[in-house]
Amino acid sequence: MIITIDGPAAAGKGTLAKRLAEKYHLAYFDTGMVYRAVGLKLLIAGISPDDAEAAEKAARELSFIEMHKLSERPEFRSAAGGQAASKVAALPKVREILLKMQQDFAVSPKSPTGESMSGAVYDGRDTGTVVCPHADIKFFITASPEVRAMRRHKEYLQKGLVSDFEDVLAQTKERDQRDSSRAAAPLKPAEDAVIIDTSGMDIATVFAEACRIIDAKLFA
Ligand code: C5P
Repeated sequence: MIITIDGPAAAGKGTLAKRLAEKYHLAYFDTGMVYRAVGLKLLIAGISPDDAEAAEKAARELSFIEMHKLSERPEFRSAAGGQAASKVAALPKVREILLKMQQDFAVSPKSPTGESMSGAVYDGRDTGTVVCPHADIKFFITASPEVRAMRRHKEYLQKGLVSDFEDVLAQTKERDQRDSSRAAAPLKPAEDAVIIDTSGMDIATVFAEACRIIDAKLFA
């Protein structure tokens, strides 16, 4: 079973995806990681994430192992890391190069410990539209920019990072704008996606609603 969860930054996709993967014994692929890894490789090398040629080279050379290694660095999940990721993600050639790596995961999904799993939960922006168009169940998780920015802001503070709500809100809107207006795989729900607006919902409610939809499909 392949489940895709797409939507804008900080809508609650990651938390939902991890919980669903655990409940239904599926592997989990956070596809934002491939773009964050390429963006961070450039930042570390002192190269602008707008440099298309360098981004393509970094994407071509990226392996799963390197991606996980880079994800252990604190900058990986930082605001600067997110901005760099969304810049390289707007480059069509970079997306094309990183597509195979994401699609291969569905062929032989594995847990972080290397155990083979019967399916996967994908989380990203285009996993239901481009990466896994034949997924069994597709969700599009969204929330207002203010709610999402507040969640990110609290997350940064909890991690001990310096954060200003207004800055986070401006960055959230900037990233939304770039992700939805880019020519290659713009952020939009798949035609057959179930849309859930999590603005007024806590994670338990979102999880219960997603499980209800999955179970209805599984036991139909
Ligand atoms: O989800 P996350 O914030 O880690 O994603 C970082 C960036 O990677 C996003 O802003 C988006 O530009 C890009 N991305 C994408 N397609 C995906 C996943 C992430 O374009 N499937």
